[in-house]
Amino acid sequence: MEIKQRAFGSGTTLYSIKNDRDVTLEVCNHGARIVNLFVPVGEEIRNISMGFDTIEGYLAGETYWGATIGRVAGRISNGKFVIDGKEYHTPIDEVTGHALHAGNFDKKVFDTTTQLNDTEGSVLFTTSVPDGEDGFPGNLHVEVEYALNNDNEWSVTYRAQTDKPTLFNPTNHVYFNLHGKPSQTIEEHTLQISADYYAPLKADNTPIGTKESVADTPFDFHTPKVLKDALHAQHLQIDGVKGLDHPFFLEKSNPLLPSVCLISPNGDLKVEMSTTEPSVVIFTANFNEDGPIMRGEKFIHHGAITLETQVAPGAEQFDSFGSIELRADQPYYSKTIYKLIVGEK
Ligand code: GAL
Repeated sequence: MEIKQRAFGSGTTLYSIKNDRDVTLEVCNHGARIVNLFVPVGEEIRNISMGFDTIEGYLAGETYWGATIGRVAGRISNGKFVIDGKEYHTPIDEVTGHALHAGNFDKKVFDTTTQLNDTEGSVLFTTSVPDGEDGFPGNLHVEVEYALNNDNEWSVTYRAQTDKPTLFNPTNHVYFNLHGKPSQTIEEHTLQISADYYAPLKADNTPIGTKESVADTPFDFHTPKVLKDALHAQHLQIDGVKGLDHPFFLEKSNPLLPSVCLISPNGDLKVEMSTTEPSVVIFTANFNEDGPIMRGEKFIHHGAITLETQVAPGAEQFDSFGSIELRADQPYYSKTIYKLIVGEK
């Protein structure tokens, strides 16, 4: 195991954790984000985390690529929420009228410490967010820890503590592409999700507030399914967002089994995801022609897939989705593990 660091542009730093099997996880203190995930597959080394070569690529456009999202991931309708009977507002997007990924963690530069032992390397990003920032109550101390071990597992762990009741629902916005190429779609990847229900969306991408059964819909991924079978299905929910951009409620009766499995087209690389969180938002980068130039290629429509573990967006309004309230006497903890399995078919 080794950890190195290098400049990543505009005063930011890229931390590189390499395990004994030559898998390398690279994370940046700007946005506490994953930048690169290099995995040796046969003779090639694939970078399966979509992103940019320097921080300037992130600063030039939308910044969610690989970033830590918080305080609240997903959309908050009208930017409005109520805690203990008091109404609060977080800034909204003027076009949509809603807040998306409220709290701007993706633009913060975090403090960093690293740790290394024989079997695991980790980078701990921390920040303190003042009471009232972006309209959220509570001084909030946040820790985001990225780790890579010799079992080819990379994990993201969140810890937080507030001094007033607030909302907290972080996630990680990694964009996987198991070809390692932004110009190749993920439509031939296979996806399996242990979820009986998903959350349908309104035309403005905010959740309706219901949990719909996946049975007999393109959202049924119990049996591994090639993504294009869902992405090209005739279904209003798929047509509405040009792909997947939906929360799935994870079925957790067997905690030893991963909740999500993503497999490369020829089966030479697999990502198995396990999480303490109750939901995962799956977004298939439905950017049409608007994808950026990335690593010298045009990022294609459906050029990646996110597995954003969290409480389902809308939880501040819909009790059945779970709770994202965090209280002063209740430290926050969540962990998601992505296990990389190379060469098994
Ligand atoms: C996702 C969100 C999408 C899109 C994306 C960022 O988490 O669900 O609708 O906004 O972030 O491009």
